[in-house]
Amino acid sequence: MIVFSTSDKGGTGRSVTSCNLAYRLCLTGKNVAYVDFDFGSPTAGALFEISAVERGVPYGGMHSYLLGQIGSATRFDVRSVTDRIALRTFASRSGKLVLFPGDEGGAEFLTVDDDVVRRCAELLLALEQEFRVVIVDLSAGRSGALDIALRATAKEQLQRRTVRWLIFHRWTRQHILAASGLVHGPHGLLHTGKECGHDEAALLESIRYVRTAVPAPGEQGIAERPAQATWLLEQDTALKRLASANQLGASTVLGKTPIEPVLQWREQVILDSDVNAHIANEATATAYVELARRLVDAATWERF
Ligand SMILES: Nc1ncnc2c1ncn2[C@@H]1O[C@H](COP(=O)(O)OP(=O)(O)OP(=O)(O)O)[C@@H](O)[C@H]1O
Ligand SMILES: [Mg+2]
Repeated sequence: MIVFSTSDKGGTGRSVTSCNLAYRLCLTGKNVAYVDFDFGSPTAGALFEISAVERGVPYGGMHSYLLGQIGSATRFDVRSVTDRIALRTFASRSGKLVLFPGDEGGAEFLTVDDDVVRRCAELLLALEQEFRVVIVDLSAGRSGALDIALRATAKEQLQRRTVRWLIFHRWTRQHILAASGLVHGPHGLLHTGKECGHDEAALLESIRYVRTAVPAPGEQGIAERPAQATWLLEQDTALKRLASANQLGASTVLGKTPIEPVLQWREQVILDSDVNAHIANEATATAYVELARRLVDAATWERF
């Protein structure tokens, strides 16, 4: 399965959530590839705490590969190179977690030629055969990365592969409208996908939304005063209505993550040991487990 992670806005929690999702999938025994297609800001190495690759590799990352400057993509086995000791010691039945980093000096693709698309399709096809799940973190918005992904997956050799799209957004008015625009708006995913040769209805069925860092307005400690509590609950209801009206209703949602204090301070993988040490919230780890489960559950992707 190939999973593209994208969002309209930056800073939505796309990379942090995708890394945690990749990690949780591994724990269930699946081999997972994490591919950094955020060409302007390839920071997946930092999330997995691989100091040598914090901002991508100096040469030979995804950008160089797509341009044909290197023959095979650079890869790192996360477990063997991470600086985080607790991340090295996965449970024995867990799968492989392999990072395909970006280039430190890479930049967004302003124009995308057929050779770049062909190389991308070849890479995705090879990774799809080697790994149970291939997560590709795309640059935000209507980017060159999105264009490459849509054109590559429209190619015949990838048409019969399972491809999913996750759209990340925060739980605010602007983020809901932006996420809807990225999918349904002019030059959005559906419009561009159709132009690339995708079947629009099939493409729509392969898209789910992930709401990140969602506050729980009714929870103790969130509101300081009764008037504030009432207002927060009203806003939450209004956002739910807005999401439904913009085709982001409950049936289109893969899941949501709660606000996690650890992630407000530091981008990282939330390990069970962080929860056991009472540092990270259990609800956050549970949310990632649940996202991983729903992603690979066929029932999630039935027609809605
Ligand atoms: N559940 C959460 N609770 C609190 N903060 C979060 C949560 N998820 C992510 N964050 C934080 O939000 C910030 C943005 O997250 P992240 O870098 O993953 O977003 P992004 O969409 O990949 O951004 P970019 O467009 O810059 O690549 C980070 O500081 C991250 O730690
Ligand atoms: Mg990111």
